[in-house]
Amino acid sequence: MLTIALSKGRILNQTLPLLKKAGLEIANEELNSRKLILDTNLDDVKVIIIRATDVPVFVQHGAADIGIAGKDVLLEHGANGLFELLDLGIAKCKLMVAATSDKQLEQNILKVATKYVNSARNYFESKGQSCEVIKLYGAMELAPVVGLSHCIVDLVDTGNTLKANGLIPLDHIENISSRLVVNSASFKTKNLQIKNWVEAIEDNL
Ligand code: ATP
Ligand code: PRP
Repeated sequence: MLTIALSKGRILNQTLPLLKKAGLEIANEELNSRKLILDTNLDDVKVIIIRATDVPVFVQHGAADIGIAGKDVLLEHGANGLFELLDLGIAKCKLMVAATSDKQLEQNILKVATKYVNSARNYFESKGQSCEVIKLYGAMELAPVVGLSHCIVDLVDTGNTLKANGLIPLDHIENISSRLVVNSASFKTKNLQIKNWVEAIEDNL
């Protein structure tokens, strides 16, 4: 049996067609049900649909053999216990620093609001900039506007959310897209099955 963990939300709609092209389908009744473990058209493959940030956790601990998650989530989680095998090229955006003006970054101790606390800390440490990182779970763009922080670290795609809130993109930290990861132990014990799936997906990208 192979278990694949998918991120619900934005990535899911773009992931299902990729899996379908590789030969894996989930019936609408399964997708629309309240079940957490979904059957597929294949007897030996199950799918779990969970929050994006939980995907690397399930894969690291072997509760799922394969996972699909954004590089933002994977960077934040760290590479422990999982291998990144494929860039799926979907849900592309950038992890960036943004603020009301570049002057805001000129601080002895920079206050940074973000849900990406590890990525933000690593980035500013690598530049030798002291920072205080304030963890938020959403609406990061609000933080500099109401004086909670000097800047934010968040995902930027069209830039519309920044613009609508009077922020400008400043430093580019990483290019983000969704990646396929596998549990490092499963990669050995289920090597052939996993390789076949990875190849089938890659061939249809
Ligand atoms: P959760 O609700 O579980 O905390 P989330 O709100 O981050 O997660 P989504 O908004 O569905 O979940 O985003 C899932 C992934 O999609 C992100 O991890 C990122 O890789 C990608 N993503 C997020 N925002 C954008 C965007 N504006 N453009 C392109 N890709 C994005
Ligand atoms: C993401 C991200 C930004 C926005 C950027 O939010 O956190 O707020 O997209 O996209 P843009 O540059 O095209 O405006 P999302 O829509 O996923 O909402 P959430 O953070 O509340 O989940």
